[in-house]
Amino acid sequence: MIYNQWYVILDSKELKKGKLLRIRRLNLDLALWRDQDNNVCCIADKCCHRGASLSCGKIVNGNLECPFHGFLYNKSGQVTCIPANGRNTAVPSAFNVPSYHILDAHGFIWMWWGDVDKNEKEPFFFKELDNFSWSGFKDHWNVHYSRAIENQLDVVHVPFVHKTTIGRGNKTLVNGPVVTMEDEMITFYVNNVADDGKSVPLKADEIKNYTSLFHLQFHFPNIWQNFISEKIRAFAAFVPVDEENTVIYIRYYQNLIKIPLLKGLMNFIGKVSSIIILRQDKRVVLTQIPKKSALKMGERLIPGDSPIIEYRKHREALLAASGDR
Ligand code: FES
Ligand SMILES: [Fe+2]
Repeated sequence: MIYNQWYVILDSKELKKGKLLRIRRLNLDLALWRDQDNNVCCIADKCCHRGASLSCGKIVNGNLECPFHGFLYNKSGQVTCIPANGRNTAVPSAFNVPSYHILDAHGFIWMWWGDVDKNEKEPFFFKELDNFSWSGFKDHWNVHYSRAIENQLDVVHVPFVHKTTIGRGNKTLVNGPVVTMEDEMITFYVNNVADDGKSVPLKADEIKNYTSLFHLQFHFPNIWQNFISEKIRAFAAFVPVDEENTVIYIRYYQNLIKIPLLKGLMNFIGKVSSIIILRQDKRVVLTQIPKKSALKMGERLIPGDSPIIEYRKHREALLAASGDR
């Protein structure tokens, strides 16, 4: 995993006040809860006393009580009370577990995976979406998150994997695509056409006025949007669980229809379409070997794969600069 990054790790609605949640993210087992002010607390899910799972405990006045011997943890992961030693006995500072910096924003819970002093800014989000309504779902894929991301950067697969849905029309010839990279954001402009048997694909630099083309965007480390139109977007967050597992949060966002009932209907249709399309992807991506991609891995790539190549290059650069943990 690329270090020193904000990662979407959970849908905000999944963490209810008064409930302890155990999740595995970024190779870590985590215990999450909300304190009295609704702030999200996140600490390692393993008691420093004798290793019990803290998420099986309970929330006491905004702190977490271990289910085994009642050690009480605050949101910094520090034990503040050891009942067997007496409530008034000070607790040595060595009684602690790692805690993680969390933000609850844009309907997601984000975790800073990195050094505390490097965490200067807020996570990037496609901010215009905050004014859209949405419906969504999550799905678990048994692949490293790099494979799940690359699937959404893949403009070549559309007429094959999605022949019956978004890939109708047999547009197998891939012009370009044009790929731009700016501030950790890859934007790629798609110009697939039906093959008349006489044409060769245009190179990216032969495509004029590409900004008017249909485009998609990926922002490191793990969010993506399909810019269907100014008022309709498909969004995905690819959440790393561990080296071989990913949770994908898909949302269908729209700002076209605001009348309550119609809005609900449109969002529902958008969500169902997204489920069908993602299932088509999943069937194939889960068969890819290896489960994790890399810049140098012996795959024979083609010009149409340029968004994937750009992703691999930049991922490699970030891993070299920030570390892979
Ligand atoms: S294992 Fe948690 S208090 Fe003993
Ligand atoms: Fe797809």
